[in-house]
Amino acid sequence: MSMKTHDYEKQAGAYAELEMQGTQYLAFRDIPMLIREHAGTIASVLDYGCGAGRSTRFLSRLGFNAVGVDVSQDMLDQARSKDGSGEYQHILSGLLPFEDFTFDLIFSSFVFLEVSRIEEIERILKEMKRVLRKDGTIIFVTSSTEATEGNWVSLSYSFQENDKPLQSGDTVKLLIQGVDVVLHDYFWTEEDYSGAAERAGLNVAKLHKPLGSRDDAIEWRDETKMSPIAIYVLRNSFPASQP
Ligand SMILES: C[S@@+](CC[C@H](N)C(=O)[O-])C[C@H]1O[C@@H](n2cnc3c(N)ncnc32)[C@H](O)[C@@H]1O
Repeated sequence: MSMKTHDYEKQAGAYAELEMQGTQYLAFRDIPMLIREHAGTIASVLDYGCGAGRSTRFLSRLGFNAVGVDVSQDMLDQARSKDGSGEYQHILSGLLPFEDFTFDLIFSSFVFLEVSRIEEIERILKEMKRVLRKDGTIIFVTSSTEATEGNWVSLSYSFQENDKPLQSGDTVKLLIQGVDVVLHDYFWTEEDYSGAAERAGLNVAKLHKPLGSRDDAIEWRDETKMSPIAIYVLRNSFPASQP
């Protein structure tokens, strides 16, 4: 049994207030560019682990009509209350109630760092691959391996509990400033994520670590030298035949 690291029954309300200020802005700033560079025509989009719908609303602002899915009813309630016309569905982890080859783009932000076992991440990726169209693209956003090593504008990992060499699967404590939510995430390295993707039959087309720039109009701290964020762009390595 893994420990419960995120108590969304209590935190869904606070989380729903989180938008994309400060360091969080870096997680989303380059997504339109990555979609342009790596994805083809996009008609159908899935937001896996949509939470309070921040990422789903972001996708709709980009012009996509995304379906948001999540394991937490409380988060889905928040998502629906902020976006009455959006489509949100409750799921069990790694079980997607969709036909094979349904989506052109599957997006997932800040979800895999809540998953306690790398085998589960691999299982979710396999299920994503099943519902992904042959030429589709998966983009997931997570913490970079070096996230705990920097001083960031709106994330803080300065806790005694983190003061040790981190091993895959360890929990790290962090504070999201602004909404004052304290979380415990699972630490996974680039090798962990890439290995899980490869075993799921997916190829890492790009690993992008967004850096802060002057144009962002944010007084960055370490964000200009290193990134707390890692964005993986995955494509099918052995596309299954598709009708
Ligand atoms: C930090 S929130 C991110 C929400 C949203 N993607 C965003 O960027 O604002 C993580 C969400 O992932 C969901 N989640 C955690 N483990 C999951 C799993 N195994 N499958 C699907 N969703 C999961 C949680 O319920 C939570 O709503």
